[in-house]
Amino acid sequence: KYEKIWLVFGLVSLILFLSIVGVSAFSHGHTPSGGMDTIDPKKVNETAPFDKPGVTQLDDDTYQVAIVALAFGYNAPELKVPAGKEIIFKVTSTDVVHSFTIDNTKVNMMVVPGQITTKSYTFDKPGKYLILCNEYCGAGHHLMSTEIEVY
Ligand code: CUA
Repeated sequence: KYEKIWLVFGLVSLILFLSIVGVSAFSHGHTPSGGMDTIDPKKVNETAPFDKPGVTQLDDDTYQVAIVALAFGYNAPELKVPAGKEIIFKVTSTDVVHSFTIDNTKVNMMVVPGQITTKSYTFDKPGKYLILCNEYCGAGHHLMSTEIEVY
C-alpha cells in the first residue's frame, strides 16, 4: 500500500514542478513595467507615448512623462509634475546611448536606442530639478540638459 502513496507523491511533485516552470516562464515573458520594451528608433516620433512627448496624467496618483533623448537635448515640452505622486518616466533615444539623470534624485536611467527605459519616481519636495546626460554621447554632450518643475 505504500507504493500508492509514493506514486501520488511523485505525481504531485511533478505537477508542482511543471507549474513552477510554467509560471516563471510566463512572468519572464511578460514584464509589464520596469523592464525594457523595444521600439524602432526610426519610428519613435510616431510611436506612443513618444508621438506626444511630455506629461500625461494616468489617474489621480500617477503621471507619465515621455521623453526622447537625442544629440544634444531632450525632446519634451515644459515638464511640470506634482510632488507626492508617482511619476513614471519613459525615455528612449533616436541616435546613440544617452542617460536621463535627474540631479539630487535616484533617477539615473541609461537611454538606449531601440529600447524604452522605464523608471518610477516620487518627488518629495517641490522645486526645479536639473535633468542631464551622464553618458558621453559626442561633442555636444555637455549641452544636454533640461529642467523639470515639481509643484
Ligand atoms: Cu547625451 Cu551625453
